[in-house]
Amino acid sequence: MASKKKTKTAEQPLSREKAGRRITMHDIADRAGVSLGTVSHVINGKVPVRDEVRARVQKEIDDLGYQPNYLSRALRTNRTNLIGMVIPDITNPFFPSVVRGVEDVAFGSSYRLLLCNADNDPAKELAYLNDLRSFMPAGIILIPSNDHMIAHSGEYPIVCIDRRPLDWDGDSVTAENAKGGYSAGKHLAQLRHKTIGIIRGPKNVATAGERVRGFLEALKEHSIRVPPEYIQEGVFNQESGHICAMRLLHLIPRPTAIFAASDLMAVGVLSAIKACKLRCPDDLSLIGFDGLAFTEFMEPALTTVVQPSYQLGHAAAQLLLERIAGHAKGPQHIVLKTELRIRDSVRAAPASE
Ligand code: RIB
Repeated sequence: MASKKKTKTAEQPLSREKAGRRITMHDIADRAGVSLGTVSHVINGKVPVRDEVRARVQKEIDDLGYQPNYLSRALRTNRTNLIGMVIPDITNPFFPSVVRGVEDVAFGSSYRLLLCNADNDPAKELAYLNDLRSFMPAGIILIPSNDHMIAHSGEYPIVCIDRRPLDWDGDSVTAENAKGGYSAGKHLAQLRHKTIGIIRGPKNVATAGERVRGFLEALKEHSIRVPPEYIQEGVFNQESGHICAMRLLHLIPRPTAIFAASDLMAVGVLSAIKACKLRCPDDLSLIGFDGLAFTEFMEPALTTVVQPSYQLGHAAAQLLLERIAGHAKGPQHIVLKTELRIRDSVRAAPASE
């Protein structure tokens, strides 16, 4: 049993401010009259310590405001409790919902999230991925800014969410984008729309292509063709939705319905409809994609394909923790369901169609 060292008396208050330096485990050990090993056992909780000793050590930790030095532990173990997460666009409400799903799992398992915003820029994304390596993360969760292959050193597990780069052979968690696009196309076809506009996402983003493919497949089943000029390319934001919609609304014949492959682009379509003194859905039906919370309260309430954004993050974090724990099964590709949520922004095609 460790000999009971003479503890420092209380009149010699020591705190980080008084000491003018970081409080160390040595300070705790000295003041509690125990060995460094005992302090370490109390902090790490992996080795049993007698209640009386634990209480004495914990009191000094609390009184001195001791904070374990994670960096020195990382240098010893070559691993931190950090999870790096890189997302394409922090201003798009879809992504923070995914981040929340990741953060709930990570925090609950004593990991801490380091969030990086790539601004849809592959070069910035790569810079972040390289910088994160120097923080010795336990793992990385990535929503790629485009379809490029991820520069992966293999030092730690990576899980891709939402977008699976074309040549990524690692873990991923995505949504049924093609099925979601198909459900939107089928709904408009069943309402007898034949002149339909599409505002797709960027050509170098996997989710965009999958949605258009599914949408066009449904129209094809109803013998509906979409001329090339009725397919516009946006960048998943409101401004590009407005610009693309203005082009579509000036085509002849004018579309009776528009599928916007993200809710923010659908908001841009609504502003274009109003700018053209038209009404939705009276003059033009509109379907979005993502299922962002505010779409229920838009005027008209937006019909949209709901993605399980929180669950995408939650499932990806759980998969990453399994990887970190070394449950080395083969690459996992989890695909979550989407759901067409029918609201007020769609009506049957006019009789003239
Ligand atoms: O709104 C941003 C889009 O990019 C979402 O649809 C999401 O799936 C991501 O791919």
